[in-house]
Amino acid sequence: MTITRKDFPDRFVFGVATSSFQIEGATREDGRGPSIWDTFCREPGRILDGTNGDAACDHYHRWAEDLDLIQSLGADAYRFSIAWPRIQPEGRGAVNPRGLDFYDRLVDGMLERGLKPYATLYHWDLPQTLQDAGGWANRDTAHRFAEYARLVAERLGDRVTSYATLNEPWCSSILSYQIGEHAPGLRNRKLALAAAHHLLVGHGEAVAAMRDALRDAELGIVLNLQPTYPASEKPEDVAAAHHADGTFNRWFLDPLFRGEYPQDIWEAYGADVPEVQPGDLACIARPLDFLGVNYYSRGVNSANGSVRPPDSAYTHMGWEVYPQGLTDLLVRLKEDYAAPPLFITENGAAYPDELTGDRVHDPERIRYFESHLEAVAQAVRHGVDVRGYFAWSLLDNFEWAWGYSRRFGLVYVDYASQRRVPKDSALWYQGLLTGQPEGV
Ligand code: NOJ
Repeated sequence: MTITRKDFPDRFVFGVATSSFQIEGATREDGRGPSIWDTFCREPGRILDGTNGDAACDHYHRWAEDLDLIQSLGADAYRFSIAWPRIQPEGRGAVNPRGLDFYDRLVDGMLERGLKPYATLYHWDLPQTLQDAGGWANRDTAHRFAEYARLVAERLGDRVTSYATLNEPWCSSILSYQIGEHAPGLRNRKLALAAAHHLLVGHGEAVAAMRDALRDAELGIVLNLQPTYPASEKPEDVAAAHHADGTFNRWFLDPLFRGEYPQDIWEAYGADVPEVQPGDLACIARPLDFLGVNYYSRGVNSANGSVRPPDSAYTHMGWEVYPQGLTDLLVRLKEDYAAPPLFITENGAAYPDELTGDRVHDPERIRYFESHLEAVAQAVRHGVDVRGYFAWSLLDNFEWAWGYSRRFGLVYVDYASQRRVPKDSALWYQGLLTGQPEGV
């Protein structure tokens, strides 16, 4: 199986993705305020290898070199995120001009290299001051987010035409406030569901603010979606898979694309359900120009919990490699939700890469990308309107609670020297994108 650009529609966009906290470093420079991840990394036991984002990939200083790399891959586009605490160090009030200047330079740098910017406004680096007031569990954060979105749109809107409001709201609510694995590290379901609701309200208000500020921008949201399958045909396993789908996928998809929370899960949550004010659901369900899908794996559920199919391959994260899940998911988004045009905003895999001389041999990652691109092509053949694909990630980077111990990059980063070394997968991606044989 050799996948080529011809397997995709003419204007299909290929790119790479990153996020601010994971690559920028320079957390105290040019007036940036502290974020919840700066705080969280300093709490003992939160990050597997005890690291933080202070230096990360030093992208704040090396952005030009990194954009050169993206250009050399033959990419059409770059998905990046904007750090809210660089723009408003305390999450509200006056703009920090030096913070906006950085993204100005970055965007100009993309345009000079023929790369289309795809901006994400919130990839988890909430200003700490807002967390001190309750974070996303406080409804006020939603209003602050819409203000911040407008500020960014007003400054970059003449050059950036695609904006995603939130990246993976499941992670910034459930994983952060209920499971406690991400900042702020709480374990409280009621707060988590309040956070999820306020994230969605903030999304809707940001969309309204940006539509007002911008004429032709394309606005959307990015969800992490994980199709769930029952471990057997037994009714209790089928019910378990349906429930997992409800808490993970439908809890976000239904309000966004149907204007309602899923009834079965609402009932199961009992007294923990969020307070929904009049008008909230209409605000959340405002029409969008695209839905961004981050896909990594599937879930398999039985009545006794999640199941790991024994014959499958797994990545260094312990996630099952299951490309068919991506086809199934994309077809479902069309059929069940009449979703707007779709982008795969993230897809990729961590493997324990090693630098040998000047090369990193990562055949498993190449196979992962190939099989998932084939899965996307299959969905396109089924008539799903998929407009683009972004590989996660350009660089090895700070993998949240895993620190630097997990490598997702097409490009290897030697953190001691900040040297970048394109892996075999980068050469392969370049071959796909430019139509030139691998190894250029
Ligand atoms: C999704 C997140 O958006 C990204 O930040 C993370 O690094 C990847 N998944 C891999 O876990």
